[in-house]
Amino acid sequence: MTIIAVFNQKGGVGKTTTTANLAAAMARNGLAPLVIDLDPQAHLTSMSGLTPKASRTVYSFYQNQTPLSELVTELGNQVNLIPSHMELAKVDMMLTQNRRDLRRLKKAMADEMLADSDTPVLIDCCPMIGVLSLSALMAADVVLVPVTAEYLAMNGAQQLDQTLKGLATKGLYRPRKVFINRYQRGHPTSEKVSHELTRRYGKDFCRTRVFESQSILEGVGSNQDVFSFAPDSESAEDFSYLLDELIESGFIKVSL
Ligand SMILES: Nc1ncnc2c1ncn2[C@@H]1O[C@H](COP(=O)(O)OP(=O)(O)O)[C@@H](O)[C@H]1O
Ligand SMILES: [Mg+2]
Repeated sequence: MTIIAVFNQKGGVGKTTTTANLAAAMARNGLAPLVIDLDPQAHLTSMSGLTPKASRTVYSFYQNQTPLSELVTELGNQVNLIPSHMELAKVDMMLTQNRRDLRRLKKAMADEMLADSDTPVLIDCCPMIGVLSLSALMAADVVLVPVTAEYLAMNGAQQLDQTLKGLATKGLYRPRKVFINRYQRGHPTSEKVSHELTRRYGKDFCRTRVFESQSILEGVGSNQDVFSFAPDSESAEDFSYLLDELIESGFIKVSL
């Protein structure tokens, strides 16, 4: 199944929120997603209520060659997580940006068959372009780009496009889709950003919008995805629709 990197070079646009809730939406659809927290800030890990030792996280894959499959933790909501730790920040210094280092994650995922026919994989990326993010982009089949309804978030998406163009010239083309997050109906900036994204990205801009929502914010406070925290909320519906759109368009391939 598909390996999806969730990425935007800007922080705070909803990469982690999207990863957590899209994974929960997949689990609700009977898929058993694997999520890799590849951000040294480890927000996804702490949002899941975990505070693992560094040796039990993806840091150990880089530092001690621990197989990824030994680092998987089952979360209560049918999602499997390879957690992160702030020590992971060292990886950007430990490894170089040569192709062999950058391919390590991709190779391990293939060797361990982590993305088998029943398992979609989501990788929550950190905002900077460095070894970690480039490794995620190389490992991924596709890139999902959340853009909040503000101009700087569009710049982050544009910078990512430059990075993806660079990879494509090396034979590593990665399709990407952009969607708007924290959308506020009738809000001038939301409308303008949405219009601009439609113009720039055409069919690669998702019809589904994820609205600004209190349920998302409050769910984080109790370590819950929005499907567990507020199953009947509009946010749960937004992420269900986003998943449907990504599957229907063939961006995410599933064998249901
Ligand atoms: N649709 C939304 N409605 C309300 N709050 C949101 C929404 N999406 C994200 N947030 C909040 O915005 C903040 C940044 O989101 P996060 O997913 O951590 O961004 P990133 O991973 O890109 O840095 C978090 O506090 C998160 O709860
Ligand atoms: Mg994040």
